Amino acid sequence: MKGQEWYQATDVAQEYDDKRFSRGGRLIDRREKEAVLDAIGPVEGKDVLEIACGTGRFTVMLAERGANVVGLDISAEMLSEARAKARARGVGDAVEFLRGDAGRLPFEDDEFDAVVAMRFFHLADTPAAYLEEIRRVSGDQVMFDTFKRYSARSVYNWALPMGSRLYSRSEVGSLIEGAGLELVEDSHDFLLPYGFYRKIPNVLASPLRSLDTTLGGAPGGDAAASVSYWHASVE
Ligand SMILES: C[S@@+](CC[C@H](N)C(=O)[O-])C[C@H]1O[C@@H](n2cnc3c(N)ncnc32)[C@H](O)[C@@H]1O
Repeated sequence: MKGQEWYQATDVAQEYDDKRFSRGGRLIDRREKEAVLDAIGPVEGKDVLEIACGTGRFTVMLAERGANVVGLDISAEMLSEARAKARARGVGDAVEFLRGDAGRLPFEDDEFDAVVAMRFFHLADTPAAYLEEIRRVSGDQVMFDTFKRYSARSVYNWALPMGSRLYSRSEVGSLIEGAGLELVEDSHDFLLPYGFYRKIPNVLASPLRSLDTTLGGAPGGDAAASVSYWHASVE
C-alpha cells in the first residue's frame, strides 16, 4: 500500500488539510463532499463507515448531517487531526475513530448502510481485495473515487512523492463487478487536475473552475477528466 508510512508523520498529518484544501483547494474539497452526499445522502440516521478517513473531512461532515459514523485509518497522526476537528466542530461524541487496516476491517458482514473511501484507491496495490472487504461490511451503498489513467493527472503523476495508481473506466467497472457490486452512477470531473488548483492564485480559482466545469460538461469532457467518483450498491 503506497503512503502507509508517509501519513504516519506528524508534520504530514498536520499540514494535510492546509496543503490540499486551502486557496483553490477549497473548491476541490467542496466538490468531493458534494460527490459523497450525492451518492449516499441524505445520511441522517444511517450507519456509515469511512475508510482511510485521514483528517476526518468526510467523517465530520457526515456526523454533522446526523449519520452514525465510524472513521477508520491506519495512521494515528491523521486520526489525531480528525479527532481534533470533530471536537472543534462539536461532533466529537457523535463520531467513532478507529485505527485499523482497510484490508482487514474489524466489522461484521453488512454492518453499515454505506461505506465511503475517498482518496484511497490511488494508494492501493491490491484494489480488488480492498473493494471486496468494503463490500463485505456494506449492506447497501459504496462510494469511492479514483484518478484517471488517461488524463492531465498522468502527465505529472510520476513526479508526486509516491506516485499514484491511475485507473481506466473499464478497469474500475471490472473491479466493481468482481466485488459483487452494481454500478449506480459514475461521474467524472476536473480536466484541470487537483494539483493545479492548489498552485494558482486564489483570485483565479473560481473563474478557472467555472471554465473547467463548462469544458467538462461538453462532449468528450468526461473522457478528459482526471477524477472519477463511483457510486455502487450491493447486489
Ligand atoms: C490521501 S489520504 C486521504 C484521507 C481522506 N480520505 C481524505 O480524502 O482527506 C490517504 C489516507 O489513507 C490512509 N491509509 C493508507 N493505507 C491505509 C490502510 N491500509 N488502511 C487504512 N487507511 C489507510 C492514510 O493513513 C491516509 O490517511
